[in-house]
Amino acid sequence: MRRKLYLETFGCQMNVLDSELLLNQLRAIGYVQVLTRDDADVVIYNTCSVREHAEQKVWSRLGELREKKAADPQLVIGVIGCMAEREGTSLFSRYPYLDVLCGPGELDKLPGMLQNAALSNLVAVGSKEKSEVRQVALMGRDTRRSTTLAAAEDTLEMLDLSRSFSPADGNRQAYVRITRGCNKFCSYCVVPYTRGAEVHRPPQNIIDEVKQLAAGGYVEVTLLGQTVNHYNYKHPDGRTTTFADLLYQVHEATPNLPRLRFVTSFPRDFSDEALQAMRDCPRICRYLHIPAQSGSDRILRMMNRGYTSADYMNLIDRARAMMPDISLASDFIVGFPSETDAEFQETMELAEYCRFKNSFIFKYSPRPRTQAAERYPDDVSGEVKRQRNTDLLALQSGISAANIMAMVGQTLDIMVEGEGSLTASKVAPGAVQLGWQKPAARTPTHKQLVGRTRGDHIVAFDADPAIIGQIASVTITAARHMTLFGKLA
Ligand code: 5AD
Ligand code: SF4
Repeated sequence: MRRKLYLETFGCQMNVLDSELLLNQLRAIGYVQVLTRDDADVVIYNTCSVREHAEQKVWSRLGELREKKAADPQLVIGVIGCMAEREGTSLFSRYPYLDVLCGPGELDKLPGMLQNAALSNLVAVGSKEKSEVRQVALMGRDTRRSTTLAAAEDTLEMLDLSRSFSPADGNRQAYVRITRGCNKFCSYCVVPYTRGAEVHRPPQNIIDEVKQLAAGGYVEVTLLGQTVNHYNYKHPDGRTTTFADLLYQVHEATPNLPRLRFVTSFPRDFSDEALQAMRDCPRICRYLHIPAQSGSDRILRMMNRGYTSADYMNLIDRARAMMPDISLASDFIVGFPSETDAEFQETMELAEYCRFKNSFIFKYSPRPRTQAAERYPDDVSGEVKRQRNTDLLALQSGISAANIMAMVGQTLDIMVEGEGSLTASKVAPGAVQLGWQKPAARTPTHKQLVGRTRGDHIVAFDADPAIIGQIASVTITAARHMTLFGKLA
């Protein structure tokens, strides 16, 4: 069997984790990862549907494979993740040479599907007939997995339980899923349709996983969930483990783990207990990624977010009162249907009030099947969306710059992530965040080590690469171009 695998991942941290878990499983049955598509027998795209822009990239990748597949009919091509679930089998009419489609809720089936696809391509080549046998695993429209499913019995749970606990390639940061799916149905968002109903993993599985990662030498664990702070596990005996309980329990069970984080938080679900857990547990990073999306109450209602801008600001005040050093980040959507200039100004005011460390800013992109796309015309022009994006970004950049200027002189613990170069980089489709990106296409002008503070600020400094993967004490000497520079303390 041919088993050189090229896997490219788009989108959020959930996809990054899914890809890592799949790679582990596939390696265990003999696949070898290759880093260029031309060398591969199996090409898989783990995809994102959150904005159209993210999907366009995959369409063009698939288009490019047409000739490769014609030259090599045994090549196995798979689309997995949110786009597979959203587009479904209609992808076959556009790309008839696609072999495998697998949604994010069905990834436990992927290894078997790849084997079957390879076999059926082989048979098709032998008989000189085009294979019509395709491998498809999707949840489908009406079969959202239900929350009442005991997650431990869920076969998907096996994917998380199958992970490797020894760090590869100097990477000492790991993601641990605590919830899957989302029940919020924000009107613009495709995630509840692609990732299905929210399921909470049993706390003991999470604690065991983090403990093993810490024992394996990981330095930082990030708990993941679409609305991570909505975690609330109901035990068969009627007890519940809340998000705050889980934070205390994981923190207590892993005294050897220097850093524990979690993303992404949902504003309406933040209890005082969870904030207290952050305050009380010294190894939990005082960092919240807590998307506000808009500062206008009318738009927030249309978005189905379930809070007002006053509620949101009140939460930020409560968090800051408890932890004055907390670092906050947000997402915003500009140009939501019918958003007026005055309503956009309310978003600017909210951003000004909250003084986020950084914000991810997106132009509204209608997503098929979502309430917003079906009910509201996408009536804010591209030009207005661009202008609002630019204005909010300029405001945020000023706030971010002032925020980091104030850090000069401080000595901070830095989790050293690797070597890098400083660029103004794209960090997510549609979102421009100024800062540092892992070495990529650009040629570095000056190689330094880069790492992150507990508040998720990026710091560049000169030191021996041998300390990559460790926590270093660094004194901040300068703040330039939205990035902190320092020297080993
Ligand atoms: N259009 C633009 N941005 C979106 N997001 C989610 N759906 C859309 C959409 N249809 C943004 C939100 C979310 C982030 C992950 O992506 O800000 O927090
Ligand atoms: Fe999408 Fe809203 Fe769920 Fe976030 S909370 S994944 S924006 S539906």
